[in-house]
Amino acid sequence: MKTVKDTLLQRRSIRRYEREDIPAETMDFIYEAIRNTPTSYNGQQFSVIDITDQTIKEKIYELTSQKQIKTCRHFLVFCADYYKIKQLADSKDIDFPHFEKTLDGVIVGIVDATLAMMSALTAAESAGLGTCCIGYTRTAAPEAVSRLLSLPQGTFIVCGLAIGVPREMPDLKPKQPVGTVIHRNVYKTEGLVESLMKYDLEIENYNRTRSGEKTSNDWASHIIDYYRAAMDYKMLDAIRRRGFDVES
Ligand SMILES: Cc1cc2nc3c(=O)[nH]c(=O)nc-3n(C[C@H](O)[C@H](O)[C@H](O)COP(=O)(O)O)c2cc1C
Repeated sequence: MKTVKDTLLQRRSIRRYEREDIPAETMDFIYEAIRNTPTSYNGQQFSVIDITDQTIKEKIYELTSQKQIKTCRHFLVFCADYYKIKQLADSKDIDFPHFEKTLDGVIVGIVDATLAMMSALTAAESAGLGTCCIGYTRTAAPEAVSRLLSLPQGTFIVCGLAIGVPREMPDLKPKQPVGTVIHRNVYKTEGLVESLMKYDLEIENYNRTRSGEKTSNDWASHIIDYYRAAMDYKMLDAIRRRGFDVES
């Protein structure tokens, strides 16, 4: 087991994996970490699909073009989930308020599923495994992936997590300095742009000199290009079709 410090500070996304199985006890540890995730109201508004079936993984790869999905050993799909509590409410004759049709209901589901993903990621990393979050699981073809996984109404995909034995160890990516990320007591805007400019250059330099494939990307333009592409995702329509008909 890695120390907490190494687990958190030496983490980087791993996109290439060995064809090696993950021991059952390690997966059990990851499941337990997922189960013990803090959740809003202790409502546990999430579920996880652990995909090991190669045919399903390859189908998701075809829909998302994310190679890690077919090469990882376990692909975990984290979903916001109000289906379970609604089923229980129906069985117990409890009148169900449609919290999932409010923006806060949607946020609660996303936060719970995301925290569960972080629990899984941290557990996996501490056990020496490599991980990569895959947002395209949600955005690339939401309906087709949901159908493939037989997701019931009242659930939607938040994010995928590829897990496997690492076959690469890319350089750690520089992150924004503490002063830009952590504001003491109140949000501080002075010096922010100067600090971000320095960071932008740092990333440009990292991209030019990192091991493996190099690019000349700066930080801002590269991220903003992602935003531009993401403007085409129709997530509101997608989650509405899954029973999250957000009204307020
Ligand atoms: C919510 C989320 C979604 C992501 N989606 C993808 C993805 O679809 N494909 C991918 O290759 N990496 C994806 N990543 C990984 C990021 O690109 C990566 O975390 C980021 O570049 C920082 O690099 P690092 O994880 O090595 O620090 C995602 C990360 C997060 C947190």
